[in-house]
Amino acid sequence: MPALTLVDGLEVGYDDVGSGLPVVFLHGFPHHRGIWAPQVGALVGNVRCLAPDLRGFGESGVVPPFSMDGYADDLARLMDALQVPQAVIDGLSMGGYVALAFWRRHRARVRALILTDTRAGADSPDGLAGRRAMLALVREKGSPAVADQMISGMVGKTTRAKSPELVDIVHHMLESAPAAGVAGAIEAMMARPDSADTLATIDVPVLIVVGDEDVLTPVREARAMHQAIAGSRLEIIPRAGHVSNFERPAAYNHVVSEFLASVTFE
Ligand code: MLT
Repeated sequence: MPALTLVDGLEVGYDDVGSGLPVVFLHGFPHHRGIWAPQVGALVGNVRCLAPDLRGFGESGVVPPFSMDGYADDLARLMDALQVPQAVIDGLSMGGYVALAFWRRHRARVRALILTDTRAGADSPDGLAGRRAMLALVREKGSPAVADQMISGMVGKTTRAKSPELVDIVHHMLESAPAAGVAGAIEAMMARPDSADTLATIDVPVLIVVGDEDVLTPVREARAMHQAIAGSRLEIIPRAGHVSNFERPAAYNHVVSEFLASVTFE
């Protein structure tokens, strides 16, 4: 299992397999890089798959401060260390927030973007209230309580009805996240800026993917990003929820593979 010490002493867990066009997979909240296992396993023959654990999750160090810009800068340092000047960045939900921060701060390093089950907006007042409650929950009762609260929104209704084993895997991922990393990510998401204006600045190829049963970042959010990003593609995965890549990997990998085939690699 590779791990790397970055310049600021942060240990980062990551997978780096395959060769050719580098594609970075950024997990959501409160996941770890294992959420991308169905993509890394399937796409490794065609592209270089680089899946890091964000600071505070998986095998990476639980080291404050936590912010979207900080996660983005961690990725830039990891790419430096792995000698990856430029990559396609695929961000799932919170990973999408990081991808947009990475675009703002390191855009020359972005070959193309994939925005998966995510949104551009900042938290609404109701959203912020929900975050405060979740922060109190994780501090008081730990990650298992957060997992119990989040699991029904994390996967779609079809997955809940037909694939209980997938629900169990995702629940286990959520409940095993380090509580301090979860709390740090909640505060980081609360502080993130609205990225609506950022969308108009994106001039690389963009694929937006969303599960049609996603209740956390619903299809209307994906459509709004699609309208705001000139030339972007939108793909809606049927019978998938918020982790569409994990719930319907064959459908997800198909649309991503088609998109990647259109992205040239110099
Ligand atoms: C995620 O999956 O990363 C979260 O649902 C994002 C969020 O809570 O805004």
